[in-house]
Amino acid sequence: MTIYPEEENPRDIYKLMIGMVVPRPIAWVSTISERGVPNLAPFSFFNALSGDPPVVCFSPSRRPIGDSKKDTLRNLEFSRDFVVNIVSEHLAEAMNRSSEEVPEDVDEFPLAGVSSELATLVKSPMVREALAKMECRVRSILPLGDRPTSGVLVLGDVVCFHFAEGLVHNFRVDPAMLAAVGRMGGSTYCDTRNRFDLLRPSRNLKE
Ligand SMILES: Cc1cc2nc3c(=O)[nH]c(=O)nc-3n(C[C@H](O)[C@H](O)[C@H](O)COP(=O)(O)O)c2cc1C
Repeated sequence: MTIYPEEENPRDIYKLMIGMVVPRPIAWVSTISERGVPNLAPFSFFNALSGDPPVVCFSPSRRPIGDSKKDTLRNLEFSRDFVVNIVSEHLAEAMNRSSEEVPEDVDEFPLAGVSSELATLVKSPMVREALAKMECRVRSILPLGDRPTSGVLVLGDVVCFHFAEGLVHNFRVDPAMLAAVGRMGGSTYCDTRNRFDLLRPSRNLKE
């Protein structure tokens, strides 16, 4: 089967994208509005792009109706910063609650059932209960299209990492303790309990 996106309904292409690019990590992004209202929302169009400098990206899409910008995007355009909180299994339901589309003046921390704490270098708040979080400063914002649900790529420089006690040993994150969840297609999620190792092949070019 061959599919050309230009010939199909964008909704269907979205379903293909989220079904084949799996599992996707989830950025649980916290920001603060110009009026000081904390905001929290999950984004699975998310990844790490560079270690030096440490850069992450995520993509809040335009809204098909009403104000085209999601609250997260509007907030970070103003504050120029955001925090990525990692979603461990015990936070999955709270993360899902925070995906509800609510008016911009609603504080989504109590809605999700989590508490906020101050970050050290940025204005955006952090999820206290998250085991791993990254304070980020906006590097660039790139709209990917002008259609109703086009994505907007946000790149952020990580300026501070936070880890729960015991989660990191010699700069290695304990995956069992982090217990991060991933997103599949539809409303399906996966855990990271089933892991396996593969050693990288290495050629001795001197032989
Ligand atoms: C697991 C999960 C992943 C999501 N990923 C995205 C995403 O990558 N991009 C996006 O625009 N919306 C995504 N959403 C929907 C947003 O979280 C939702 O639109 C949210 O209300 C936006 O909040 P805001 O207006 O406070 O920014 C996702 C929802 C869930 C539950």
